[in-house]
Amino acid sequence: MHPRDLAVQTFQQHFHHQPAHIVMAPARVNILGEHVDYNDGFVLPAAIDRATYVAFSPAGQAADRSILVAADFDEQATFTPDSILAKADADGIALSGWARYPAGVAWALSEACLPVPAMHAAFASNVPIAAGLSSSASVEVAFGLAWSTLGGWSVPSMDLALLCQKAENQYVGMNCGIMDQFASACGVADRLLLLDCRSLEWETLPVPGDTAIVIADTAVRRSLTDSAYNQRRWACEEAVSILSAELPGVESLRDVSVDDFNRLCGMLPQEIEKRARHVVEEIERTQRAIPLLNSGEIAAFGRILYQCHASLRDLYEVSIRELDLMVEIARDLPGCLGARLTGAGFGGCTVNLVDKDAAPAFAARLAEGYRADTGLEPETYICRASSGAQLLAW
Ligand code: GLA
Repeated sequence: MHPRDLAVQTFQQHFHHQPAHIVMAPARVNILGEHVDYNDGFVLPAAIDRATYVAFSPAGQAADRSILVAADFDEQATFTPDSILAKADADGIALSGWARYPAGVAWALSEACLPVPAMHAAFASNVPIAAGLSSSASVEVAFGLAWSTLGGWSVPSMDLALLCQKAENQYVGMNCGIMDQFASACGVADRLLLLDCRSLEWETLPVPGDTAIVIADTAVRRSLTDSAYNQRRWACEEAVSILSAELPGVESLRDVSVDDFNRLCGMLPQEIEKRARHVVEEIERTQRAIPLLNSGEIAAFGRILYQCHASLRDLYEVSIRELDLMVEIARDLPGCLGARLTGAGFGGCTVNLVDKDAAPAFAARLAEGYRADTGLEPETYICRASSGAQLLAW
């Protein structure tokens, strides 16, 4: 069943009437610029045609309890403004799993003095969890939009993204950058999104005409990501603090050129050097890649994706054997222009840029090759760059 229908059906079963509204917020795939958003770099994601759908109604005038039902888990969470502050449900039990995301969003919106009326909601998603496609950002942004609908307020999409990022950073405790929430809130159909994570200025670029974006899910789910991710982030901050002794005014690795880095990298402990080198070179790679995309040099652009993967594997050390294998198999298939892991890493998906005509056969042969090698059942699909979060006609 489509997640939109599942959300509506679940709502009706629990609340015995039709929901007043439905919103959706998409997942994202990142094409280039990985682990650079929290270093003020450039990222090139697209919202995709997988999303979280929330069917909802106001809980009623006097009610202060929100009841949220997760159709995919057959679970329910109830909370009040006070219990949210305590990171607990209405019975005082600590929030865990999915419930922390909508609760975190409610918290961040309240902190910004935006009204968060109690709601009854059911939600469902076809975004695989812990697969590097930002299922959590799509849940956050969808609930952000749901509360804005009920509260009768609106903020620019980027501001909603920033509030959802705050929820994830400060409430959930994952120190992510802005990329995922941005892509989910601001996605544009058939376009890639180029975001400068320092100025938050962004523009869109077309998906190159005769190429397809193929997502390949290794079926290996991330684990312990939050701590490994936060450690990477810390290593970047440490590199900045050491390098700033020689490079006054440097605020983030965005400010360090490849030449300066090569000159000064001896100052850094080995592991920090590797992490920072990935970031400095990835920011440079992304800046080099955009003109190639604009001038239609897609083969050269695709090669940069392979370089990005090698750097994530060898320097940032966020790949795993299955992701490497998925990239290696892809590379040998007809029509493949570039492939790499997408998102935080440690499991999840690869993104592949493929000649459009070759894409269906590519997706099938990639799955076949991977299955034969690992015994795992991967999912490969051709995705469509899609619009960002929206209130759906109902
Ligand atoms: C996760 C984070 C993003 C970004 C990517 C890596 O998806 O949520 O902010 O840092 O990892 O590029």
